[in-house]
Amino acid sequence: MEALRAPSPVSPASLIRPQAFKPLSTLSFTLSKPNSLTQFNKPKFKTFTAVSSSVSTEPTSPPDQETETPDQDEKFDWYSQWYAIMPVCDLDKRAPHGKKVMGLDVVVWWDKNENAWKVFDDMCPHRLAPLSEGRIDQWGRLQCVYHGWCFSGSGDCKLIPQAPPDGPPVHTFKKACVAVYPSTVQNGIVWFWPSTDPQYKDILTKKKPPYIPELDDPSFTHTMYNRDIPYGYEILIENLMDPAHVPYAHYGIMWTPQPR
Ligand code: FES
Repeated sequence: MEALRAPSPVSPASLIRPQAFKPLSTLSFTLSKPNSLTQFNKPKFKTFTAVSSSVSTEPTSPPDQETETPDQDEKFDWYSQWYAIMPVCDLDKRAPHGKKVMGLDVVVWWDKNENAWKVFDDMCPHRLAPLSEGRIDQWGRLQCVYHGWCFSGSGDCKLIPQAPPDGPPVHTFKKACVAVYPSTVQNGIVWFWPSTDPQYKDILTKKKPPYIPELDDPSFTHTMYNRDIPYGYEILIENLMDPAHVPYAHYGIMWTPQPR
């Protein structure tokens, strides 16, 4: 029983698949609204929308008042949603972790000063080196591996080792700061909001990631793992909805009914 459908509209895809099980009982999950997608192109710093498909049919009877009908003008903003990055159990607090989500290169790291997982643009503002290749210094700052600039959990540059101590405070320049994404931990997963626009700084107070109560319920067991897969989410969804392939494609590596 799959308890979470991780939103992963990227190529390559980043996937977290928590599964929750409760023996001797049946779980049922329902979609509140049909998802329909007509278009998604490789993103980079743009807002893309998916528009509900339009189906023209003659009703043979009056529509049921209770039936939810798709809004023809409904748009889905891929960059105004929370996305799962990594389960916390797969993260090491002693090192930064690089990840590509929604076509964005991000670095996840543990800020011991704020006691929180942080999600930054994986690009040093100095010479654009990936911060995920860096380290956490002794003061708990994220340090770039190239020239050693150090950043606090708020993205501020706290140290430029080569700057003269009696010179101008260059490390406080805005251009020396790293872009920070809103992030949080829920259900044992690090989530991030894929926009560093200041208007979303407090997005968590207005909108939270989807909550899966079974993952926090000790009467359930669950497993959680993540994989990077080199294709888009629509291929994955098609695959997960295709049980006929399981006894053959997964032959010998998981329990399956005996192939006929
Ligand atoms: S590229 Fe990061 S400190 Fe120079």
